Amino acid sequence: MAVIFPRWTNYVPHALTLGAVGALAAVTFAVWYWFSPWYTDVGYSPVQPIAFSHWRHAGDLGIDCRYCHNTVEISAYAAVPPAQTCMSCHERILPESPLLAPLRAAYKADDAIPWKRVHMLPDYAFFDHSVHVAAAVGCVSCHGRLDQMSVVRQENPLSMSWCLDCHRNPAPNLRPRAEVTNMAWSASNAGYNPEADPGRARPVAPPEHCSGCHR
Ligand code: HEC
Ligand code: HEC
Ligand code: HEC
Ligand code: HEC
Ligand code: HEC
Repeated sequence: MAVIFPRWTNYVPHALTLGAVGALAAVTFAVWYWFSPWYTDVGYSPVQPIAFSHWRHAGDLGIDCRYCHNTVEISAYAAVPPAQTCMSCHERILPESPLLAPLRAAYKADDAIPWKRVHMLPDYAFFDHSVHVAAAVGCVSCHGRLDQMSVVRQENPLSMSWCLDCHRNPAPNLRPRAEVTNMAWSASNAGYNPEADPGRARPVAPPEHCSGCHR
């Protein structure tokens, strides 16, 4: 009998199956990776190594955000405080608390506390805190009512469309400079008009062009 298909074609069905399995795995990985809470999920709220509560410290005790996140006005990155900042109080306040044992250990060993990162943009998107604070966009506009959270939770998607929604119409998210860290302040309640604020030297102009955020 004449050979119609050469022998190697016997392997074609296997190859197709393998290819399909591979493609499915790749798609599954991509979906799992890019859409996992690490990147997009509103509500991402990992358990932290110390039961630190913003509700207690920023809400109840009224400590200003900048006391701990002290680079937020001057740099792109909002620094998370070292153990030393905490110990300025906790050397005296609750010095024996078992909840603070990991803090005391880190302080003694001069180690960083392994806080789990909550908010995280991909590397190809550029974000700068200092610019937003200088324009007096409140922390609450992007991070929600942290003063009411015992565990930090991501409140907004941090997606491109979310950034652009505000960049196209920033006015409702502006406030007086003095209120940047005030979580309870709201423009509608205060009847604030940025154009009439003598504290503003110029109108804001957030970038909408691609290279503004992809540099
Ligand atoms: C007493 C110090 C302290 C104060 C005050 C404080 N924070 Fe924090 N903040 C921390 C620590 C420590 C972490 C890391 C642990 C965690 O996520 O709970 C953190 C985490 C965060 C995060 C999440 C960081 C990430 O990984 O994405 C945001 C956002 C944040 N703080 C905003 C604020 C805002 C807004 C205020 C003021 C309303 C504030 N913080 C007040 C200490 C503080
Ligand atoms: C300005 C002072 C101050 C600073 C700074 C501060 N705390 Fe506190 N912290 C307090 C007070 C006050 C309490 C509540 C004490 C009480 O409940 O009697 C508290 C309570 C706590 C508790 C609950 C402990 C328990 O046994 O109930 C934890 C955990 C904690 N703080 C962690 C931290 C961490 C981590 C930092 C640094 C990021 C920090 N604190 C910075 C004042 C401070
Ligand atoms: C315009 C929106 C916006 C405002 C306003 C804003 N943040 Fe953020 N914040 C973000 C984004 C986006 C990230 C993630 C940045 C990244 O991954 O590069 C972030 C991350 C953080 C982090 C984690 C460390 C870092 O820089 O990645 C802390 C802490 C934080 N913000 C605190 C604050 C505090 C405190 C304020 C107010 C003084 C504030 N933020 C105001 C959008 C904002
Ligand atoms: C709630 C409103 C708001 C949100 C949300 C917001 N921005 Fe902005 N953005 C502003 C304002 C206001 C300015 C300041 C413009 C000015 O000073 O003229 C600004 C400026 C910028 C600039 C210009 C910085 C420079 O150096 O010129 C960049 C880049 C930027 N934002 C990136 C982002 C990214 C990325 C996100 C999303 C992760 C984001 N922004 C979310 C309001 C916002
Ligand atoms: C205001 C800031 C900002 C501007 C302006 C902007 N981007 Fe983005 N872009 C982002 C952020 C933030 C992400 C990451 C989104 C995420 O993680 O979900 C992103 C993601 C992307 C992605 C990855 C796919 C996706 O949708 O997640 C592409 C492609 C992209 N941008 C292209 C563009 C192009 C083209 C322009 C100009 C028309 C542009 N961007 C303008 C902030 C911006």
